[in-house]
Amino acid sequence: MKIVVTRDLPGTALEELQDHRVEVLSFGDAPVTEEDLIAAASDADALISLLSDPISRQVIEGCPRLRVIAQYAVGHDNIDLEAARENDVVVTNTPDVLTDATADFAFALLLAAARKILPADRSVRDGRFTRWETDRFLGMDLHGKTLGVVGLGRIGAATARRAIGFGMHIVYHNRSRVNPTLERFLSARHVSLTTLLKESDVVTLHCNLNPDSHHLIDASAFERMKPSAILVNTARGAVVDEEALVKALADGQIAAAGLDVFEDEPSVHADLLNLDNVVLAPHLGSATLDTRSRMAEMCVEAVRTVFEGAEKVPYRVA
Ligand code: GLV
Ligand code: GLV
Repeated sequence: MKIVVTRDLPGTALEELQDHRVEVLSFGDAPVTEEDLIAAASDADALISLLSDPISRQVIEGCPRLRVIAQYAVGHDNIDLEAARENDVVVTNTPDVLTDATADFAFALLLAAARKILPADRSVRDGRFTRWETDRFLGMDLHGKTLGVVGLGRIGAATARRAIGFGMHIVYHNRSRVNPTLERFLSARHVSLTTLLKESDVVTLHCNLNPDSHHLIDASAFERMKPSAILVNTARGAVVDEEALVKALADGQIAAAGLDVFEDEPSVHADLLNLDNVVLAPHLGSATLDTRSRMAEMCVEAVRTVFEGAEKVPYRVA
């Protein structure tokens, strides 16, 4: 069998596929196109893909031998699942293993934004720490504040658990209420998005990207938020209208943001680069060696299970 892996993966999981022909691609810095994927995988039986690979209908139909696409991520908005189903291609992802790493990262961005760690770090490096000051880099306390979780799934709940440790109150917005045990455990209140935006001191995004969540946080959402509020996005860039976010940050409509994801990755809105009240990271939510190695193992396990013809494929999303 031929397995195409669109980037080399951390850890040793790929060695388990040594009975097969494994082709690891390296596209350099240029974004991977549909044509690149078809050229590399037109005779492949399996594809291990990244969230940045555009796996459209054209790609799926241009790779007629494909039996499985194992996505090296939990999100899979880059894959046309309907086309996969119609062409009998199994699609899997890597849930659960990255939940805590991603929640940690949401908190890292939150703390960095709330306590102005990046400008403070720059000031030390620039030799501007000349004496202890009473009023430099004054940040926001987290204890007693309200965290609004948009999308209380696995990662949202893990982020909320951390927030409880910091003495925060939790409100959340989901299409439907989560189970009462989780609600009680988090003392979390299910509210409308409008209420969440009005009440929250920190808004953290953990929903999938889909047509309903595209630009869920837009100019009118920023109007509802507190001027002291912090927005954290470790979900998908396009959940936020990036143009409106730039304006909200520049005009002081909100206080700060921590962003791990961008609307048009890997490009970042040029104006964000000039703002001091935003922390920027290059999509690192799951980026720990343990987590990324485990994600590779899950992709390999999914591919092997499909090749073995097993009925039940782990981590299957389509
Ligand atoms: C990362 O964003 C993922 O979906 O795993
Ligand atoms: C992601 O998998 C989530 O459920 O938050």
